[in-house]
Amino acid sequence: MAKEKLRGLILSGGKGERLRPFTYSGAKQLVPIANKPVLFYVIEDLVACGITDIGIVVGDTQAQVKEAVGDGDRFGARVAYIQQEAPLGIAHAVKIAADFLADHPFVLYLGDNLVLGGVASFVQRFRGDSSNCQILLRRVDTPQSFGVAEMVDGRVARVVEKPSQPTSDLAVIGVYMFDRHVFEAVQQLRPSARGELEITDTIQYLIDKGLAVQAQELNQYWMDTGKMGDILEANAVVLDALPSRMEGSIDSASRVGGKVIVERGAQVINSVLEGPLIIGEESRIVDSQIGPHTSIYHHCQVEGSRIANSVVLEHTLIERVGYRIEDSLIGRYVELRGDGKTEERCCALTLGDHSQIRAV
Ligand code: G1P
Repeated sequence: MAKEKLRGLILSGGKGERLRPFTYSGAKQLVPIANKPVLFYVIEDLVACGITDIGIVVGDTQAQVKEAVGDGDRFGARVAYIQQEAPLGIAHAVKIAADFLADHPFVLYLGDNLVLGGVASFVQRFRGDSSNCQILLRRVDTPQSFGVAEMVDGRVARVVEKPSQPTSDLAVIGVYMFDRHVFEAVQQLRPSARGELEITDTIQYLIDKGLAVQAQELNQYWMDTGKMGDILEANAVVLDALPSRMEGSIDSASRVGGKVIVERGAQVINSVLEGPLIIGEESRIVDSQIGPHTSIYHHCQVEGSRIANSVVLEHTLIERVGYRIEDSLIGRYVELRGDGKTEERCCALTLGDHSQIRAV
């Protein structure tokens, strides 16, 4: 039986421990990839799937998430917020969202998962078939870091959360489709060893009950952006896929190579831009070398410095830093002031919001 109007459920709570120091002061789902919060890609993907009734489960960082997303109008969606009192697991989030979901089939999307090109074809398939659940699988090098699916004769036989001895390299990615049977499953769950209600146990419950759990293999780029290195990698991949865009200004003394995005009000003066890269709104780049694979978010100032393969968050100042900054993730309102002495060596920085470094 084809499914009626699907809803969306996005998870945007959690502590983000693997992304400290950023997550001491910010929601991990709001870390920008190519100058757009991961969460926005998720909302846009759901809207592209024709899903406009979206619930977002929020935790401690709810104020920031609500401020960034609002009522969903700018995405063409209607967003409701569901408060989770503690990060008790993905399946717990489904449990507390039962009233919002009201027996509708839905797409559950983890707010830190990025799928390049989106999941519309999979959602379309789920809409039209009679399955009770659809999961998406991606072959990975480190299955022990994910939920892992074991296939027997083309069907999912088992899903196990972060097994120490994985029996396959098929990770269950953070986009799941369910019908109302999931609510019975989440009622029956007991917390796992890490104290959470696991989504993998939920799926296993459905399999054990003989319900139709479909698995599709995904060949697109997928990233769970929960760790530092993952953010830099996802940033590079997304920048590679974006077309050039020029809404700011680059003066005639500057040199530009590769794909470059300069957003509204940004200024580039006497600098070298080596794309792919993006310079955010109202940022100023002066006497500097930027790129490749670098995102400078809005209202930043970079002067007399060199930055490659890095992500710099909003309102940050980088001035006369002699080391070439590489593979770095630099937070909001950071002040980094060097002495202007050019060094051959590089430095890789992970700096939380409001950090200050000054050469003396
Ligand atoms: C969660 C799920 C895991 C899944 C992963 C995808 O892991 O528990 O099954 O493979 O998301 O991103 P977590 O990020 O909570 O460790």
